[in-house]
Amino acid sequence: MSFDFDQEISRLTTHALKFAARQNMFGTEDAQPMWVADMDFAAPEAVTNALIERARHPVYGYTLPPESVYESLICWMQQRHGWAIQRDWVLLTPGVVPSINATVLALTQPGEGVIAQSPVYAPFFSAATQTGRMLVLNPLRFDGQRYTFDFGHLESCATKARLLLLCSPHNPVGRVWRKDELEQILAIARRHDLTIISDEIHADLVYPEFHHHALASLAGDATNIVTAVAPSKTFNIPGLGLSALIVPDAERRRAIAQTLDMIHMSVGNPFSLAAFEAAYRAGAPWLTALLVYLRETRDEAARFLAEQLPQIRLVAPEATYLLWLDCRALGMNDAELKRFMTRDAKLGLSPGAQFGAQGAGFMRMNIAAPRHQVMAALQRLRDAVSTLG
Ligand SMILES: Cc1ncc(COP(=O)(O)O)c(C=O)c1O
Repeated sequence: MSFDFDQEISRLTTHALKFAARQNMFGTEDAQPMWVADMDFAAPEAVTNALIERARHPVYGYTLPPESVYESLICWMQQRHGWAIQRDWVLLTPGVVPSINATVLALTQPGEGVIAQSPVYAPFFSAATQTGRMLVLNPLRFDGQRYTFDFGHLESCATKARLLLLCSPHNPVGRVWRKDELEQILAIARRHDLTIISDEIHADLVYPEFHHHALASLAGDATNIVTAVAPSKTFNIPGLGLSALIVPDAERRRAIAQTLDMIHMSVGNPFSLAAFEAAYRAGAPWLTALLVYLRETRDEAARFLAEQLPQIRLVAPEATYLLWLDCRALGMNDAELKRFMTRDAKLGLSPGAQFGAQGAGFMRMNIAAPRHQVMAALQRLRDAVSTLG
């Protein structure tokens, strides 16, 4: 099977967020959009075929997720991640962010502490702040090359919290947490009776040198772990909105299901269900090819930056198609950096400060696009930096 990730597919006509919201986000339409975390590649053909097939039936009414959807997830988790999950543990939800928010609402009380480890995907902060919980920050440590957990500080945060939000693999810094790191997280959670929400949405986008461990698969009984997964990032179907929570503990599961019911969070979209199942059942060869392509792009970008743009340092991702760029040597504040990227380099990147104060001076660049476009972006960036004098 061959897949053409070099093919340019215009998304302008589909109201793609990363294009359509450029004016709002960057004040111009004239910036190559490398911000929103979706890909510019065609989804696996099996997904497209399943959607066409479903569209052929002309009634698009309320739909009950069939058992085959759950089975496709169970098989995927077993085959890709060696984690045997049970049908009863699964709650289908319309997205990972709403799942996290619903879980925070269900398992904590207003005012209770929720830990996030910054820099991190911004909805981790709002999951606490917008639900009236107390955001407790345990910033990651950065030694100039890689990020690690600050276990000592986490231990003190844990004394004032009920819940820990884990991003595994981590967006935006690209870490795939090692088994021993995750085991220390589990030990701290156990000591302080913390529930962990493990957001594993990027778990399938891990480069071959690294290995993702589903947190709950390391935990024995795993009663204090709620895992969020989805085929959305993996197979480039995030616009379809369907994900899963895996909750082995019956009591927590009941509480979360009650919250989902209360806000009538339904998963009856017949297209999402068809795409979810087709992706998990038949998407593996496409994913294998995608990871080879992304790795080559990542490596070519890394070489280019090292050789031609040493002022910007790449924190090389172990997972995800997101490059975390350390731009602090440019000596700009965040407003200046964003303006420089947008106006001078004509790039629409995610400002690092979006991911918390620890992201100041960084930029996140999405490389899930045809490689020649990514390299052209980097060349523009090099040329813009060279004019800074
Ligand atoms: C860590 C993480 N969680 C969740 C999401 C979004 O999930 P959803 O679109 O299913 O709400 C993203 C998207 O970038 C993400 O990076």
